[in-house]
Amino acid sequence: MFQAVVKTLCVASTRSVSRGILCTRHYCKKTPTKLRVSEAISGAELGAHIKVQGWVRSVRPQKANLFLNVNDGSSLQSLQIVATSELNDPLLTFGSAVEVTGTLKKSPHQKQTVELQAEQIHVIGECNPVDFPFKIKERHGLEYIRQFPHLRCRTNVFSSLLRIRSEATSAIHSYFKENSFVQIHTPVITSNDCEGAGELFQVEPSSPDNKEDQNFFSVPAFLTVSGQLHLEVMSGAFSKVYTFGPTFRAENSQSRRHLAEFYMVEAEVSFTQSLEDLTKVMEDMFRSATEQVLAHCAEDVDLFHKHVTPGHRDTIDAALKRKFPMITYSEAIDILNRSSEKFAFPTDWGCDLQKEHEKYLVKHCGNIPVFVTDYPYDLKPFYARDNQDRPNHTAAAVDLLVPGVGELCGGSLREERLDLLRARLEELGLEDTYSWYLDLRSFGSVPHGGFGLGFERYLQCILGVDNIKDVIPFPRFSHSCLL
Ligand code: 4AD
Ligand code: MG
Repeated sequence: MFQAVVKTLCVASTRSVSRGILCTRHYCKKTPTKLRVSEAISGAELGAHIKVQGWVRSVRPQKANLFLNVNDGSSLQSLQIVATSELNDPLLTFGSAVEVTGTLKKSPHQKQTVELQAEQIHVIGECNPVDFPFKIKERHGLEYIRQFPHLRCRTNVFSSLLRIRSEATSAIHSYFKENSFVQIHTPVITSNDCEGAGELFQVEPSSPDNKEDQNFFSVPAFLTVSGQLHLEVMSGAFSKVYTFGPTFRAENSQSRRHLAEFYMVEAEVSFTQSLEDLTKVMEDMFRSATEQVLAHCAEDVDLFHKHVTPGHRDTIDAALKRKFPMITYSEAIDILNRSSEKFAFPTDWGCDLQKEHEKYLVKHCGNIPVFVTDYPYDLKPFYARDNQDRPNHTAAAVDLLVPGVGELCGGSLREERLDLLRARLEELGLEDTYSWYLDLRSFGSVPHGGFGLGFERYLQCILGVDNIKDVIPFPRFSHSCLL
């Protein structure tokens, strides 16, 4: 009852405030309504006295009038400002920060529906156009703007990328929410090396209190390479869990698809019956997130598909139209061995698939995402479920390979059988380290599995961007300078 009253009061007060603003707009024009550029160009406030703040994207002085384009990051489109030439100021340059007050009008030009007739233009921050690395009217390439990690968000292409990244993040959270997954914040600092590949960053205090004390924690600590094991703990109580956070790998790789710090989306599902319980989640998540991004960021995505990676839209549309095919690792090896292509890396059964192999397989399957399942047991970490199919001997693992990128997701059913898991950990001399993990198999163990998706690789995949450093705000890789 009390809550209901409070709510009604709030609504009433909002109404009276908005009436107040209207009155101010029409009669005294003293307090303009502050709008985001995206709100202004939507046209909903035509005739209103408004204020926008942003950065100048173009300046076109003409005899009687001055035209500016102002962008505040809320959309790819800028707001056109029209002013009399008395408002021109030598400090109004490309890149300068401004605050403009005026009246929002219908634009007589075809390029935009509204424009702001300026009454006041205030330069808040100057920008020397000679020193500013980006030049008016030039379309700078991704490689060029990558040299300026502190300024590249001021370019159209990188601001579009970051809006898409933000939308994709919320699309992924929405997918999991709509499908009853519980989000778990898995730790960044951990003592486990889930992937067993040794690509770990160790964490130590920069100045330990006690020099004798080797470890801050009681054991060596590392930045996480995967939240999987912690998710497995939680899947034992919540059935369906996920995490989406920073992940670290000390790979000395300068490749176009590896970073030292990247974002991984990981899901873990209990009561699985087969790998298809996982591939369904991977495929549904991919579709649902991509459809949301294409619908909500159409202009930003178009910038990439039209100007940066022309033709890529067809690839994405084809991926969304068809069900992702599924082949086994053994079938993949047969396909590679039957092809006339000369591969640099061996394609014998038991070899890891390299990027060149992954690319070939994707092309072979129609240039759409393809699942490869049942990898050699010895290639997979200790947690992967044994298919017990000797002599081949495979594990119930699955990778999703996608056009242009190769491996996008890696996952597996987990070994839920205590005796088999214990035997493997003993073989690796890890039974003490993972005694807590073995416990999970003693207390209500169920068949389960999960996967991880590299979020930057996902963005590369939907946009067709070649270099992973171009899809993350501040890339970290070996020998990079850190901001
Ligand atoms: O295949 P990975 O290593 O799988 C795991 O870590 C599992 N424990 C995940 C799980 O089952 N919960 O990594 C998953 C994905 C890869 O397919 C790739 O897309 C991405 O993470 N990835 C990287 N992305 C950028 N830079 C790196 N260095 C990456 N390493 C892996
Ligand atoms: Mg992998």
